[in-house]
Formats: sequence, C-alpha cells, structure tokens
Amino acid sequence: MPPQPRHFLTLLDLSAGEAETLIQRAIELKGMLRAGVDYQPLKRRTLAMVFEKSSTRTRVSFEAGMVQFGGHALFLSPRDTQLGRGEPIEDSARVLSRMVDAVMIRTFDHDKVERFAAHSSVPVINGLTDRFHPCQLLADVQTYVEHRGDIRGRRVAFVGDGNNMCHSYMNAARLFDFELRVACPEGFEPDAELLAQLGDRCEVVRDPVEAARGADLISTDVWASMGQESEQDDRAEAFAHYCVNAEVMAAARPDALFMHCLPAHRGEEVTAEVIDGPQSVVWDEAENRLHAQKALMELLMVGGPQAT
Ligand code: CP
Ligand code: NVA
Repeated sequence: MPPQPRHFLTLLDLSAGEAETLIQRAIELKGMLRAGVDYQPLKRRTLAMVFEKSSTRTRVSFEAGMVQFGGHALFLSPRDTQLGRGEPIEDSARVLSRMVDAVMIRTFDHDKVERFAAHSSVPVINGLTDRFHPCQLLADVQTYVEHRGDIRGRRVAFVGDGNNMCHSYMNAARLFDFELRVACPEGFEPDAELLAQLGDRCEVVRDPVEAARGADLISTDVWASMGQESEQDDRAEAFAHYCVNAEVMAAARPDALFMHCLPAHRGEEVTAEVIDGPQSVVWDEAENRLHAQKALMELLMVGGPQAT
C-alpha cells in the first residue's frame, strides 16, 4: 500500500517542533529568493488549486510559489469544473490526486476538506474554510518572528468575529505557545469546544481595549466573512465597537505590531490611521504567505529542504 500522504488541514497537523522549523525555513526561503538562488525542488510537480470562494493572496502566493519551485499550479473553480455540477467530493479527490502532486482547497464547510483529504493519495492543504485559515497563521507568525523574535510567551489580541481567523489564532496559541485574548460581541464567540481545549491560554472579553492591554500583537479581520454577505448590515451594528483604532493600539505595548489577513475595510474593523500607520506590518504579512507556503509545500511534497 502506498504511504499515507501528509495533509495540512489545520495548524495542529504540525507538531510544535515542525512548526518552528517551518517558520525558520520560510525566513530562509525568503532570503534565498531575494538573493536570486535557483532552488527548484518541485520540478515537474503540479499543485491543483480548488477555489470555491474568491481569493487574491492565496491564489497568487501558491501559484507564484509553485513556479519559483520549478513546478506548476492549476486553478480550478466550480464554475468550470464538474465540482460545480455535483460530482462527489470523494470522486474528485480520487481523480485529481491521481494526476497532481498536491491539492489546495478553499471552500465553505471544513468537513469538505476533511472528506477530500480522506480520499486523496496526495497531500491536501486547507486554503481557508469557514472554520480555519491555517496558511494565514504561518505567515502571521513568520512576520512576528521577523520583526520581534520568538512569539512564545507573548500576548496576542484578536479583535472581532470568532471566525476562521480567530480559530486559527487559537490553534496557533497552542502550537506556538502564546497567550491569546479575543474581544468579540455577544453571540459571535469562537467555537466553545476549541476554547475549552485552550484552557487558561485564551480568554474571551467584550472590550477591545481590555483585550489589547499589554499585548505584543493586535490582529483583526472583517466583520462579515465570505459567505456571510447577507448578514453585513446586522453585523455592522453588532461589531460597531470592534474597530482597531488609535485607542486600542495605545492600550497595547508601545512596540506592539498590527496585523490583518486582508482584504481590509478601513473605517470598519480597523481605522486607516492604524492599518496605514507605523505599527502595521500587513504588507510583510501578505508577502509572507508566499514564503511560508513554499516552506509548507516543500515539507508536504518532498519532506523538507533538498540538496541544491
Ligand atoms: N488573506 C487571504 O487569504 O487573502 P485572499 O482571500 O485574497 O486569498
Ligand atoms: N474571515 C475572512 C478571511 C478572509 C481571508 C473570510 O473568511 O472571508
């Protein structure tokens, strides 16, 4: 029987040691790219990218990463594949994985990536589901490490919806060993089961300023995620006080960083002053999607760094 492929459906598919090594490798790959080093460990390999939701960063970073590694990426959307015409996800997984070397999926139900992975003979990467966005957290942690060093023991505040980004920050708090405070309105809390797994490492509060007090990193995300467009008006009301503004940043440590996975809505979850201000590292964070995912693909597809 062929060996079981290694998937990345949540951050917890990595051990703490692997995660730390992967972040260091992402930083190294970034340096190699900048220095013009020709490193192509994925020659003749193909990544299928299934997008059931929109994307700028995820699509471009995976596609550019595959090209830089000497491979190729295929963009597949339900609009022009049989996935959109009801072909079972299990059958799609069996077929695609006989032709390509890895599959990245962005979809709605997390259950769908799990079912795909269960029937795939090649690694499957979660490119965002309603529940988790693990690739984004690899980039966020890389960005923190580059700017401030080790994230272990640091205090992180997530302001906003208890959504896929919040859940991934929760998993990251476990994996990278930092403290997390979530500020969200009533009724928009993160998943209770995940919260219970974090014990006293994660606290949910109502006040963004309280969450930010003494924090080393403040992160936020949109009020209405993809698929929740019809809730935009109700959410705008519920989240009206959940804006990362100068007052929230002032409660954090003076050297605190601001992150946002993007796309951002200035004047909603963050003010222009903050996202375009000196503590914001959102452009480095966006760029690091490329480097962190290259390190991830190298690990999943060829087991780690290859001889040059
Ligand atoms: N942050 C992020 O995943 O961006 P995209 O939706 O543009 O891929
Ligand atoms: N929570 C957002 C993240 C976008 C990258 C969404 O799911 O739309």
